[in-house]
Amino acid sequence: MFATAYAHTNIALVKYWGKRDDGGRSLNLPAVGSLSLTLDRFGTETTVELSQDAQGDSLVLDGTPRAGAELARVSAFLDRVRGLAKERRYASVTSRNDVPTAAGLASSASAFCALALAATRAFGLTLDDRELSKLARQGSGSAARSTYGGFVLLHRGERDDGADCFAEPLQTALDARLVVVRCGSGPKEVGSTSGMGHAQRTSPYFPAWVETHARDLDDARAALAAADLEKLGEVMEHSTLKMHATTFSARPAFFYWTPTTLEALARVRALRAGGTGAWATMDAGPHVKVLCAPADAARVAAALGEVPGVFGVDVAGPGPGARVLGSGA
Ligand code: DP6
Repeated sequence: MFATAYAHTNIALVKYWGKRDDGGRSLNLPAVGSLSLTLDRFGTETTVELSQDAQGDSLVLDGTPRAGAELARVSAFLDRVRGLAKERRYASVTSRNDVPTAAGLASSASAFCALALAATRAFGLTLDDRELSKLARQGSGSAARSTYGGFVLLHRGERDDGADCFAEPLQTALDARLVVVRCGSGPKEVGSTSGMGHAQRTSPYFPAWVETHARDLDDARAALAAADLEKLGEVMEHSTLKMHATTFSARPAFFYWTPTTLEALARVRALRAGGTGAWATMDAGPHVKVLCAPADAARVAAALGEVPGVFGVDVAGPGPGARVLGSGA
């Protein structure tokens, strides 16, 4: 049995950062809810094939066999799917990213969503989207959101078993673009899981991050309901700057930004000062994603492309949810 699935990446406008206690059950429950946009470019295609005789799972990522921590994380995820399917067979996983892996362009979001969909289908399970989002979340929190297209909310939930921690699509009349500005190359030094854990344990700002977060989500949802790009952009920038403030104030401190990140941020402010609606967000990496109206995207991309040190600029729009590309025996 095999199945192939594709999931697009998503970028959080209101960030997920930090986890709540799940009593050691590895449910990966977020400390805060989050709100994202699934993109029409960048994503992961993954094939999961079950094997009768293999002695363990295997992983080939972007043409290279992987072992160690990468394989262990995938294998632990497959254990969950085996548990759901009451299956014991091992699987070979072949995955291709069209996002630079671990470069802060949210590759774990598309990767674990595509894996959740391909693996469940290969093991003969058909989950509805809500259940798929809960499963994907257990691989990587941001992956839950790639289940759906467009603007997506991931509920924080209250329950210890994670039953109310799922993603859901948000309806809006707003159309927008995210200009993805590459401000560095190579893998990031601090992954998102360890970065948020360290900030949560050591930053005195972390409690303030959690306390003020629900208000940001409410504001972003109200902005979407009113199709108000300016209001959405303003709260988006506020959310990312608060998140990064927890890294600056961690002990020891760490920084995802490069000098190019700051140059790009200055350019976004200059665009705004000149009357163009443009707002920035950064994840666990140096890249800047700029939210703007569709009609302004070419101008924003050209302005950011001129910033010294920028490697490249891509314009992304709202994209679709995860889908099965094929399956069979
Ligand atoms: C900064 O989803 O990669 O991109 O659940 O530990 O796998 P884990 O974390 P991950 O964290 C994403 C953090 C972020 C913000 C976001 O996407 O909401």
